[in-house]
Amino acid sequence: MAKILMVCLGNICRSPLAEGILKAKINERGLSHIVDSAGTSSYHIGEPPDERMIQTALKHGVDISIQRSRQFRVEDFDYFDNIYVMDSSNYKNVTRQCRNNRDREKVDHLLNAINPDMNQPVPDPWYGGEEGFETVYSLVEEACENIVQTL
Ligand code: 4NP
Repeated sequence: MAKILMVCLGNICRSPLAEGILKAKINERGLSHIVDSAGTSSYHIGEPPDERMIQTALKHGVDISIQRSRQFRVEDFDYFDNIYVMDSSNYKNVTRQCRNNRDREKVDHLLNAINPDMNQPVPDPWYGGEEGFETVYSLVEEACENIVQTL
């Protein structure tokens, strides 16, 4: 049973969505893998996801409203098997905390589950308009569908 952590900057838009979508897919299939999410920053600790992200997810039948932001910590390397980051900035912020190669091997870009080795970003919707949230939803949904098929 794999333990999977989704990581972004604020843990209020992209990674809470990735957590919610992957959990929903795991539940639908009767699996019991563990999924969590975290942010590399401390900006939004304790806060619920961004309202625009909550509403976009709800439109697709995924409820992320009870999730709360927490900060990534080095102990996450011990507990989780796979750590998926949303962009190269997250990748740097996580991997600079790696203690060894075993930690480093756990970290990958989420969208490499769609296009291997391309290190494509899930664009940060924080500063953009509503359509950015739909773009994020469809990218994250496709990646999570591919991930759940490997579990
Ligand atoms: P996230 O989006 O990393 O997908 O949660 C952001 C949320 C907040 C901020 C940046 C990105 N911020 O600068 O507060």
